[in-house]
Parts: sequence; structure tokens; C-alpha cells
Amino acid sequence: MMKDFAMHIMDIVQNSISAGASQISVTITESEADDSLKLVITDNGKGIPAAMLEKVTDPYTTSRTTRKVGLGLPLLKQHAESTGGHLSIASEVGKGTVAEASFGLSHLDRQPLGDVAGTIVLLAAANPERRFIYRHTTPYGSYTFDTDEVNEVLEGMSISEAPVIRFLREMIEENLKEIKISG
Ligand SMILES: Nc1ncnc2c1ncn2[C@@H]1O[C@H](COP(=O)(O)OP(=O)(O)OP(=O)(O)O)[C@@H](O)[C@H]1O
Ligand SMILES: [Mg+2]
Repeated sequence: MMKDFAMHIMDIVQNSISAGASQISVTITESEADDSLKLVITDNGKGIPAAMLEKVTDPYTTSRTTRKVGLGLPLLKQHAESTGGHLSIASEVGKGTVAEASFGLSHLDRQPLGDVAGTIVLLAAANPERRFIYRHTTPYGSYTFDTDEVNEVLEGMSISEAPVIRFLREMIEENLKEIKISG
């Protein structure tokens, strides 16, 4: 079951939301020089206890009650490692969690980015009370989407309204095109 980056973002941010995070940041950094693609997701949620952190990328580690396996982190790890990269998770109870995955940018097993713009906007629209920051850097430049800034510009309109969602998605896509993000 191979997932594109947008699907990983959906999975990992969902973990942050379940952990009660009020601020979640997603950064993607592409480097042609060292042929790497990095995905870092940081949250200020409740954190992961040390004993669980050791085995958090094992499918049988989950706080789910509806099934016995948790697949979000194991699938991200498998994808990263299949491209010569790795996944590392750092966490502190009461402070938050950082999940950092690296990939070989041009590796044949590196899945496409997918609909990152749509995913970020969907997550933000479904969680208007949380702050999302998405930063994407390529050799051509950097783009940052920050829901705090967006809310200021929206002047009272809600980020959850359909026309706003459509507008924001197109805005992000335009900006990502300008910095020539990878497929
Ligand atoms: N950002 C986070 N903050 C706090 N706990 C986390 C975080 N990310 C993961 N965890 C803990 O690690 C466990 C494993 O996460 P993982 O995403 O692999 O599986 P899951 O979320 O349990 O299930 P699935 O992703 O398949 O829905 C979670 O159940 C949760 O207890
Ligand atoms: Mg999960």
C-alpha cells in the first residue's frame, strides 16, 4: 500500500489533531544538490510517552481502540526507507511531537507529492480553531501558507466556506507552481 505525500500528510496531521494540538506545521524541503526531499510535521499536542516512542513505528503500537494496528507512521517509515531515507520521531510529553521523514528525491520508489494544496486546505477548513503552517522550499524559492495570516485577510469570512476553500487551494497551487515543486 504505497501512499503519496499528501496522504502521509493527512495521516500524520491526523495524529497531531488526535493529540489535541492547537498548532501544526508541515514543511517540505526539496534539495536537488543532495537529491533529498524532507517532510517535517511538528505539533504542540500532548506528546508521546518515552516507552511508547521507542516502538511508535511498529504497526502494533497504537492508542486506537477500534483496531489493533496503527499504520500511519509505519507506512511513512516504509516509504522513506524504500527510497534510501529514514523516519525519526522526537516527542516530549506536554510539549509536542516532531516527525521527520527524508526521501531520495529522484529515487524510483519515491511516490509523487499528490494533492498537497488540497490536503492542507481541507485540514485547515475542517479544523478552523487550529493554526496550520505549511512551508515548501525548493531550489527556486520558498512559499509559506499560514492560517493565522489567512484569517486576517479573510476579515471575518470563514476558512470553512466552500468558495474560500476553492480560492485558497488555487492560491497555494499557483504559488507552488512558481517555486517549481516536484511531481
Ligand atoms: N503527533 C502525535 N502526538 C501524540 N501521539 C502520537 C502522535 N503521532 C502518533 N502518536 C501515537 O502513536 C500511535 C501510532 O500512530 P500511527 O499513526 O502509526 O497509528 P494510529 O494513529 O494509531 O492509527 P492509524 O494511523 O492507522 O489511523 C498513535 O496511536 C498515538 O498514540
Ligand atoms: Mg495515525
